[in-house]
Amino acid sequence: MASLQIPCATPTSQSRSSPHPLFAKPSHFLTHAKRRSNRLRVSATAGQNQSNSSQNVETAQGRVDRRNVLLGLGGGLYGAANLISSPGASANPVQPPELDKCGTATNLNTGEQLDINCCPPVTDRILDYRLPPVYQLKVRPSAHRVSPEYIAKYNKAIDLMKRLPADDPRNFMQQAMIHCAYCNGAYDQPGQGSLDLQIHNSWLFFPFHRWYLYFYERILAKLIGDPTFALPFWNWDNPKGMTIPPMFNDTKAAIYDPKRNQDRLTAVVDLGMTGNTDPLQLVANNLTIMYSEMIRGNADVYDFMGQPYREGTAVNPGPGSSERGSHTAIHVFVGDPREPSGEDLGNFYSAGRDPLFYCHHANVDRMWTLWQYFLPSNKVPDKRITDPDFLNASFVFYDENAQLVRVTVKDSLDNLRMGYDFERVDLPWIDYRPPPQTVKAKIVRTGTTAPKADTLFPLKLEKVVRFQVPKAKKGKADELLVLENITVDTTKFLKFDVFVNDEDDNAFELDKAAYAGTYAQVPHKSKNKTATTSIRLKLTDLYDDMDIGDDDTIVVTLVPRHQGPGVTIGGIKVIENPPAKSSS
Ligand code: C2O
Repeated sequence: MASLQIPCATPTSQSRSSPHPLFAKPSHFLTHAKRRSNRLRVSATAGQNQSNSSQNVETAQGRVDRRNVLLGLGGGLYGAANLISSPGASANPVQPPELDKCGTATNLNTGEQLDINCCPPVTDRILDYRLPPVYQLKVRPSAHRVSPEYIAKYNKAIDLMKRLPADDPRNFMQQAMIHCAYCNGAYDQPGQGSLDLQIHNSWLFFPFHRWYLYFYERILAKLIGDPTFALPFWNWDNPKGMTIPPMFNDTKAAIYDPKRNQDRLTAVVDLGMTGNTDPLQLVANNLTIMYSEMIRGNADVYDFMGQPYREGTAVNPGPGSSERGSHTAIHVFVGDPREPSGEDLGNFYSAGRDPLFYCHHANVDRMWTLWQYFLPSNKVPDKRITDPDFLNASFVFYDENAQLVRVTVKDSLDNLRMGYDFERVDLPWIDYRPPPQTVKAKIVRTGTTAPKADTLFPLKLEKVVRFQVPKAKKGKADELLVLENITVDTTKFLKFDVFVNDEDDNAFELDKAAYAGTYAQVPHKSKNKTATTSIRLKLTDLYDDMDIGDDDTIVVTLVPRHQGPGVTIGGIKVIENPPAKSSS
């Protein structure tokens, strides 16, 4: 089977929400209208943030009302049956930043202050945002498939956004600065001393960006007076979308940005960041990576979403598979090497200045939806996070009326409730499991000379290293490889790949059973240059495909894709899935 057969939307659901007139046949769009069409009715909440009622108003300095937490969200509402025990003790959800305490973002390479101020306008009026009723779903189109009319409309909207007064929070640069403010150490976590507020590399990654795009899209729609306007998604997970969408290469267009890697304007994207330039191999690598980060490598919801980040958590508790993989790769692929810090897309502080950022992130957002609702759920015991510190985490954004609103993670969990869906396209990676290796790897057959892991760690990763790690259990096993206490220099682009029992050193090819997964990050500045993180890679399918069942030991190869030092890995081990209670 080449692609997932998504059940077609029913006529009923289609008639509830007529598709965008610009795109093809109705039955093609809605990725999951049938599945949840009944839920659309639920979302009708009246009086969306137009109210001035005093309980909605708080000052910019105000803290979030904790009553939500007290009123049951922390208590028995989430029964034990639903609860996935999440790593780390429960604390409090991350609070929105205090807008009047916004510092200057810092430049990566020089450590000097950036000459831009990321701080959004300060206001003393914040409303709690309520999702408006959905009368008609917006459909985000695949950026490679849009019509000339759509492109004209999109450019007009971006142009109008650029022409707004510079201090209007909806202005193009103001919107770009939101990303800088939340991602470059401009804010501290309220009440947590000088601990940075940083929404990347954690479970806040998907919800934050979803809300960011949500308001961005609404601002654009309002500017052109078309409430059906929806952002395009860069379909980089499909071979037909594996180049920069052509509309972004029109140098006269409002969506053009000169700060992009000029060698890559029409090149096939390199989600593996291997540097390979053979387009066919790149496509194979890309599909393998998608399969690995969406399906094969994840044992639980945190492996995909990212690790818990609560009030008081230090930055970078651990990025999810999609964030660190394809997401990072596109940033780095497009960022301009002529610029000191890979601007615009190659660095968090400047990424939002390129309209392509929002198109990229629309696809990142689509990955979340696909993962939630379309991927085989037998691989991950529960795809929901019911932890109140996740659900009640909140952010602030300016909405399409330039009103500052506070939003919560729990309101972002369902894109249909938020009023948009994605054009339906094939998912060619859904079955892209690497072929089994029929002959047992020679390094294992003849006995490996690789050193034992415990003689090497902590390991400063500067070159390819290969070593042995004992399996947790002999025989057929459901196991995870854990790389812990990974200390990273956050200001650098860093990436390494992990292979198991790989005997050829052709690290340009990822479409093989031995490829276990990736760590990668987009450069960004935090107050401390380093952060400590960890990743887990599920090995169960890999064991099957490599016929490893009867071995006691695996041979792990780590392949760094970056120059120079920047990563130190504290330890590595294989654990059972789910982890035994005694192991952390
Ligand atoms: Cu907030 Cu792709 O980054």
